[in-house]
Amino acid sequence: MLVLNGPNLDLLGTREPHLYGPHTLADVERLCRTTAHTLGLAADVRQSNHEGVLIDAVHEARTAHRGIVINPAAYSHTSIALRDALAAVGLPVVEVHLTNIHRREPFRHHSHVSAVADAVVCGAGVHGYVLALTHLAHLLDADGH
Ligand code: DQA
Repeated sequence: MLVLNGPNLDLLGTREPHLYGPHTLADVERLCRTTAHTLGLAADVRQSNHEGVLIDAVHEARTAHRGIVINPAAYSHTSIALRDALAAVGLPVVEVHLTNIHRREPFRHHSHVSAVADAVVCGAGVHGYVLALTHLAHLLDADGH
């Protein structure tokens, strides 16, 4: 499975900890790898601050991975290109947000990615990645992938 993290998530741990919590990106990466291992799967966990790099990673996933967990961060709210890439590769997608974007500023309430995601987890903090990976594994089982 590919776990993709978008812009500014490399600053987790120091970035607005009252919103995003104390965990670092390294903690999230470790959590995802451990969770995937428990599910009998492997997680390739990546982060980029660049829209095109994220899109390239989605394209690569078409042949390299069975599903995608993505926290598109601010690109959720702006990137039709990332949404189109996810739609194009046709893999199961679970979108994650650490915070409950619906309780935040109005510009965060809409995510372009949600329309192409099989499920959305938001507001569960880093546990959201565990939920997302678990659900993705369930989707893969159900589809016989
Ligand atoms: C976020 C929510 C986004 O609105 C924000 O731009 C982020 C992180 C979250 O995980 O809660 O960078 O995706």
